Amino acid sequence: MSTAVEADPQSAQDASFDDNATRYPLPSFAATDGDARLTCLSSPLHSCAIFSPSVALGVQEYIFENGRRYHSYFGVDKYLMPTDEREQERMDIAHEMFFSLFDGQLHKAPLADNPQNILDVGTGTGIWAVDMADKHPGAMVLGIDLSPIQPTWIPDNCRFEIDDAEREWAYSLNTFDLIHIRNLDQGIRNWPKVLAEASRCLKPGSYLELSETSVIFQCDDGTMTKDTPAYRWSALMEEAMAKAGRPAIRQGQLEQRLKDAGYEDIHAFSLKLPFGPWTKEQQLKALGWMALLGVNSAFQAYGMAAFTRILGMSAEEAEKVCSEGLASVKTKRKHVYVYHYVAYGRKPKIKIEE
Ligand SMILES: C[S@@+](CC[C@H](N)C(=O)[O-])C[C@H]1O[C@@H](n2cnc3c(N)ncnc32)[C@H](O)[C@@H]1O
Repeated sequence: MSTAVEADPQSAQDASFDDNATRYPLPSFAATDGDARLTCLSSPLHSCAIFSPSVALGVQEYIFENGRRYHSYFGVDKYLMPTDEREQERMDIAHEMFFSLFDGQLHKAPLADNPQNILDVGTGTGIWAVDMADKHPGAMVLGIDLSPIQPTWIPDNCRFEIDDAEREWAYSLNTFDLIHIRNLDQGIRNWPKVLAEASRCLKPGSYLELSETSVIFQCDDGTMTKDTPAYRWSALMEEAMAKAGRPAIRQGQLEQRLKDAGYEDIHAFSLKLPFGPWTKEQQLKALGWMALLGVNSAFQAYGMAAFTRILGMSAEEAEKVCSEGLASVKTKRKHVYVYHYVAYGRKPKIKIEE
């Protein structure tokens, strides 16, 4: 049973949070102790983003909608969030928040002492893959994504490929020591297929880690009601995602996905991400400040394509739902948070027949 998130009584009663959240002394997260990611492209040792052989240069094609840039190469509705610089910035802020929530760790699943191959599916800006490559210089870390939005200055042991995780994976049986999938729900309809591919490509005894941030907003003290614009945004998101065949993630679903795919030693937990520094608890307060940096674009990033393409709203109507939703969570009086669900499981060891 999860405990309620308590609001800080010191938090002012009637004002909104300052947009300039950076004035708060943000915790510093030293993800790595080296700067291997600064490998120069001109170095003979450089690594770079490459396209997998199955796709052509059309991966650079995008569509522009409501002022944002979206993926189109694998299908316009393949993924419903933007891929532009504003979104990349949001992804990197989210990465720092998860790193803090994970107490300075990049994953919770056990990892072999000397891993050789690590895969990050739906790598986004590749920030997790780069940090993992820095942390495990003896391993090759591969990140795959629909869009080529990864940096080119990366550690020698990091590589990016462009591919759709819902297609057959191009990797051999029993290759990876860890597969990491974070916040991919907006781009996957067929999770059983993705998990079956992961299972084929993992080494026996190695782990798959899944984590997803829910779009279903929570509040423990009644400050968010059905009339709160944030509630409306969240309810519409839930409706749109269900209609799109990608239902919003709920408690218990990640571990169920792992169970259904035959994984063992499954562990699951959930973390709370408050919108704003309204909580009593200091770590959550710091996260709340960071969340304010990300939510400025998150409501629009998640909502615009979902509301216009799936629910058929006009751009003006969708924009209104997003901006009112955002304004309502930035009010100190509304104590809203979301869950980030995490689950990991082990691919069974191969049984030797007698
Ligand atoms: C919300 S971002 C998360 C990025 C990264 N996992 C992180 O947590 O920082 C989701 C990423 O998954 C990618 N994506 C969505 N659907 C995908 C698919 N079917 N195959 C590969 N990548 C996908 C998107 O292009 C986007 O970069």
